[in-house]
Amino acid sequence: MKILGLCGSLRSGSLNAAVLRSAAELTVPPRELVVDPGLGRLPFFDAEVEETALPEVVAELRAAVGAADCVLIVSPEYAHGTSGVLKNALEWMIGGGEICDKPVALASASPAVTGGDRARAWLAETLAMMGARVIPQELRIPQATRKIADGRITDEPTRAALAGLLDDLAVAVAEAREADGTLTS
Ligand SMILES: Cc1cc2nc3c(=O)[nH]c(=O)nc-3n(C[C@H](O)[C@H](O)[C@H](O)COP(=O)(O)O)c2cc1C
Repeated sequence: MKILGLCGSLRSGSLNAAVLRSAAELTVPPRELVVDPGLGRLPFFDAEVEETALPEVVAELRAAVGAADCVLIVSPEYAHGTSGVLKNALEWMIGGGEICDKPVALASASPAVTGGDRARAWLAETLAMMGARVIPQELRIPQATRKIADGRITDEPTRAALAGLLDDLAVAVAEAREADGTLTS
């Protein structure tokens, strides 16, 4: 099972990037987590450019989504929504359609007690509109500066919850495959 990991923060010291790093550490064969090299490389979405000269980096992102069985998205909460960089990436993904029917899990880390709840709610609505299968299980990490250090999750219950989310994603992939098989048989 191939998981694509997307992070909505560009900060080198990002709490959310640390979550993705820990998810990669928790992923062992036959599962594989490929971390996207950074959504900041994408230009701003432009529907004209999309039609006339799709940037190579966008084509690469779409191909990575297409090659994955599922997607893990970790996002900071900015102004009660997700980050502009992640919203921009989602806009580029709409036209490709690769995320349609793909299981997606959401996680967010925030220094606040709300744990990025509003960012995940925002993402869930947008991804549902895009046709993704957003799984109901989510990971919220409130007061994340107490649970993440040196670029990794140090809090054991939080690490266990992240491992549980990856298991839930695997179950969703199996269910999606079964549903697709049912549809084609
Ligand atoms: C412009 C800006 C807006 C923010 N808005 C929120 C917010 O609405 N809710 C929240 O919980 N945290 C908010 N924060 C705090 C971020 O959650 C915090 O900086 C977090 O560490 C960013 O994620 P990262 O560590 O992955 O880069 C905001 C931070 C900035 C710089």
